[in-house]
Amino acid sequence: MLVSAKEMLTKAKAGKYAVGQFNINNLEWTKSILLTAEELKSPVILGVSEGAGKYMCGYKTVVGMVNGMLEELGITVPVALHLDHGSYEGAKACIEAGFSSIMFDGSHYPIEENVAKTKELVAICNDKGMSIEAEVGSIGGEEDGVVGAGECADPEECKMIADLGVTMLAAGIGNIHGKYPENWAGLSFETLDAVQQLTGDMPLVLHGGTGIPEDMIKKAISLGVSKINVNTECQLSFADATRKYIEAGKDLEGKGFDPRKLLAPGADAIKATVKEKMELFGSVGKA
Ligand code: 13P
Repeated sequence: MLVSAKEMLTKAKAGKYAVGQFNINNLEWTKSILLTAEELKSPVILGVSEGAGKYMCGYKTVVGMVNGMLEELGITVPVALHLDHGSYEGAKACIEAGFSSIMFDGSHYPIEENVAKTKELVAICNDKGMSIEAEVGSIGGEEDGVVGAGECADPEECKMIADLGVTMLAAGIGNIHGKYPENWAGLSFETLDAVQQLTGDMPLVLHGGTGIPEDMIKKAISLGVSKINVNTECQLSFADATRKYIEAGKDLEGKGFDPRKLLAPGADAIKATVKEKMELFGSVGKA
């Protein structure tokens, strides 16, 4: 059964580790992530962007697929199904469809409007026992066609949003989605430290987990980050393994064109990436 992300993140914050949010794109992604979490006895959050939700034929299809897998694969670790960077309408649709967690990304609204909309969604999520993530300060890079510059959040605004009763808070600290450019300045630990001082026990979320050096990940966790989002890195691993399979001509040997064979190296590569991240984040054995 899907669970809210509240308990797993409260434990992570207290235990000084982070739970990974791995974004899903299809059946292979979902299966690889769930099997790895189960094997490593790690809690896990499955992230679904609005674009990926549409691609997978809508939120109800996603809920059906994930719930089916939890049962048929015998998954016992805590799993949350979470809308990633949700719009106000998207958040409501996911609540309706049976997600167990949502992110409402109101970072592009003026702070007053972000507060008003977040407040309304917090009340609905509390009522349904769901977790809700809010964002202050946009995360850089491109996500579903929206390009942010990677600003640093205002710690006072973070406190204002945290006080609305959200479960977890994403604060921009110079992180960006996708690959980091050569001249990236790195994470602003000064901002993170100031945000954590004002928000106390609130689990903080680090977006753009792909390509952040290990020492920065560890430092971010030590300063209160309890959820780290990874998307692009699984896509890169999948594409790389699939390309190697085809370049080696394996799809032309025997029944190598069978999708169950063709997609297997990519699915295994996702498993390896997820394992590596769970070990780095410290969530192994915490389920
Ligand atoms: P990456 O694609 O950079 O790993 O970022 C994922 C993310 O933050 C999803 O919200």
